[in-house]
Amino acid sequence: MTAPVLVSLSEALARLQTEPELFVVYDKNAGSVALPLLDALPVRASLALETSEEAKTLETVQALERWLLQADASRGALLLAVGGGITTDLVGFTAAIYKRGIRYANVPTTLLAQVDAAIGGKTGVNLDGYKNMLGAFRMPEFTVLEAAFLRTLPEREWRCGLAELLKTFLIGDGPAYAATVSSLKSAQNEDERVEMGTSSLKSAQFEDDIRRAAAIKAQIVTEDPEEHGVRAKLNLGHTFGHAIEHAARQKGADITHGEAVAMGILLAAELSERLGVAQKGLAAQLKADFTAVGLPTESPYPVEELVEALRKDKKAAAGGKVKFVLLRAPGDVILQELPYDCYFATK
Ligand SMILES: NC(=O)c1ccc[n+]([C@@H]2O[C@H](COP(=O)([O-])OP(=O)(O)OC[C@H]3O[C@@H](n4cnc5c(N)ncnc54)[C@H](O)[C@@H]3O)[C@@H](O)[C@H]2O)c1
Ligand SMILES: [Zn+2]
Repeated sequence: MTAPVLVSLSEALARLQTEPELFVVYDKNAGSVALPLLDALPVRASLALETSEEAKTLETVQALERWLLQADASRGALLLAVGGGITTDLVGFTAAIYKRGIRYANVPTTLLAQVDAAIGGKTGVNLDGYKNMLGAFRMPEFTVLEAAFLRTLPEREWRCGLAELLKTFLIGDGPAYAATVSSLKSAQNEDERVEMGTSSLKSAQFEDDIRRAAAIKAQIVTEDPEEHGVRAKLNLGHTFGHAIEHAARQKGADITHGEAVAMGILLAAELSERLGVAQKGLAAQLKADFTAVGLPTESPYPVEELVEALRKDKKAAAGGKVKFVLLRAPGDVILQELPYDCYFATK
């Protein structure tokens, strides 16, 4: 696979102007981004999607494949995805298998997709309620980073992306982590009436943060495109996070992926302290930071319950061992295979 390519909107428009066979699939909720693009570009055909995890399926991919076929898309076609991670995952997978693979490019319109989902070539869909069970690695030709596309994003979605952005800095750039937390805190202090997402988007600093986080993800993916090693670092907070999401689903509770990841990062920090990998105080520091920027920190489920979920998750725990991402300090993480219940074994 090639390395990820991150471009500005003007660069993307220039590249796409001469595409002979351009097809666009966009999230209906991202119409304010997609419709001007449809006007500005030589688009052969476009399709609006109603997105949801329930509709992130092979059936939807099949519908997209049929649409391409009926529109006579050849192997030279380029498929443009405009939307959040659901759209870019669906469109990427469609491109990966249509006529054994065509080109695609991403215009992410959520913060989560700009710093994470739309970069790195993992594509896929859910199967029978299991997330991302079917998929393929296929690198997008490029990913567009444009902070202005996030203006219409609901606050809760914005926070989801913030959890992944801070996660990326905790993996790869300690000073950027500290700077982002402090600038978000002061943006909020300046204008307490506006919500965090809205106020942070006013700052050029936050645009830089998006670009920096996206570049860190791109760098990690370049080193390890198919997750045989360092790419697993991107799962910081996700081992516990997935267990929290799983428990929430079972209890019908409403916890987003980003919220679960924020709580999961704190548990990973606590585990790192217990193992002596991190100095005492790291978890408390992260907890204070996350609280200040509006991220949840406390899992509503006891760790015993989450650890039990890890044991049962055969995929996570091969031979009773789980690959944990541990924090030594902000910007410095390590991968360690440990027994699923090491959280308690190390008190
Ligand atoms: N491929 C990867 O490497 C990778 C990484 C992380 C997550 N993912 C996947 O990404 C998905 C989550 O991505 P997401 O959080 O972007 O979800 P999403 O695509 O569902 O978007 C979140 C919500 O925001 C809406 N939306 C999108 N753009 C908007 C805009 N500009 N203004 C207003 N509303 C807008 C969407 O309609 C949706 O309701 C999951 O399915 C996850 O599995 C993939
Ligand atoms: Zn995630």
